[in-house]
Amino acid sequence: MASSLAPTGSGNKALSKAKIAKQDEFYTQLSDIENELRHYREQLHDKVVLCNCDDPYESNFFRYFALNFNALGLKKLIATCYDGSSVAGGRLPLLDIEGLKPEGKQPYAVEIINVPDVNGDGAIDLTDVELLLKSDGNVSHTLKGDAEYGAGDFRSAECVNFLKQADVVVTNPPFSLFREFIAHLITYNKKFLVVGNQNQVATDEIAALITNGDIWQGNYSGDMAFRVPDYYEPRNSRFWIDENGQKWRSLGTGCWYTNLDFAKRHEKLNLFKKYTPDDFPSYVNYDAIEVSRYTEIPVDYPDEMGIPVTAVSKLSPDQFEIVGFSGMLAKPMADLIPGQTGSGRFYLDLGGGEFKRMYDRVVVRNKTL
Ligand SMILES: C[S@@+](CC[C@H](N)C(=O)[O-])C[C@H]1O[C@@H](n2cnc3c(N)ncnc32)[C@H](O)[C@@H]1O
Repeated sequence: MASSLAPTGSGNKALSKAKIAKQDEFYTQLSDIENELRHYREQLHDKVVLCNCDDPYESNFFRYFALNFNALGLKKLIATCYDGSSVAGGRLPLLDIEGLKPEGKQPYAVEIINVPDVNGDGAIDLTDVELLLKSDGNVSHTLKGDAEYGAGDFRSAECVNFLKQADVVVTNPPFSLFREFIAHLITYNKKFLVVGNQNQVATDEIAALITNGDIWQGNYSGDMAFRVPDYYEPRNSRFWIDENGQKWRSLGTGCWYTNLDFAKRHEKLNLFKKYTPDDFPSYVNYDAIEVSRYTEIPVDYPDEMGIPVTAVSKLSPDQFEIVGFSGMLAKPMADLIPGQTGSGRFYLDLGGGEFKRMYDRVVVRNKTL
């Protein structure tokens, strides 16, 4: 399939520049989706799943749900695509089926309600999916957008109508709109599972939602690799080109954000270390101790502890209460020590008038003590 976003005219050049600046085109691998989704299978039964940042020609989210439609017992799968595929190559040529492939280069939506299992073995393979796209009830429409938002924008009225139909939203949203995307799903009271970055946990909006227990992180966090379009510039780190010429980028702090519960979330950490004031110094500008690795959380400490935000996904709600994040809790240093300026982070007193500014911390209390 030819790229529908190939920057040919001046309008497209402007669009292309904006996209480059935002670095939003990170395409998720099928294996990452499979590994995470297996923790939520029962919760998808008889549900309408919406992938609202997903061009079916490119998205492995669409691919995963199409292939597993019957195995998961989905009621409906909807995918909406923002402004067409920016990566040529058509990894899903099975969508090139007359009647379902929308005309032109406009963004579009695909609605799937019917996946015939022609092999009769319950397992859906690619052949079945081809048939599914010709099957009764499965439709595609072009999207037009509205006065405020472009075609396929998750905030546009057309896409909001799909959102209202959906039970669960599963996607990797644009990084540049991540906080707005989550706020949008919360406004419409939707269940979701979306790819994000562990660092987003400390931003005001996400920190507040996590502290309230409205959202949490999914099972996996850490390295995640993504296909990126050919127009992405090479970088010194976390960038490579594979043997097929495909460009890749990776995040060391990839993760999932969700409001779907899953069994592993309730597994408690095995703690072994005992508290001593020397091993766990208190912060200067908040009443909590510093625990620099979540594996060293003292087993016998009943009060507030600051731990790295990258450990949020390891915290069972049955074991720890999340009190808040350093950005919201830290007192300005100037209020405590004349001449000191820092704020928004915790500080440790190193002696001799020196203070160490810590990275973002999540503050927890062991509720089992
Ligand atoms: C991080 S990429 C992930 C794509 C796909 N969900 C996947 O995981 O492979 C985010 C996608 O959202 C699209 N996008 C950007 N702004 C959007 C918006 N306002 N509404 C909907 N989609 C948007 C981008 O074009 C991009 O394809």
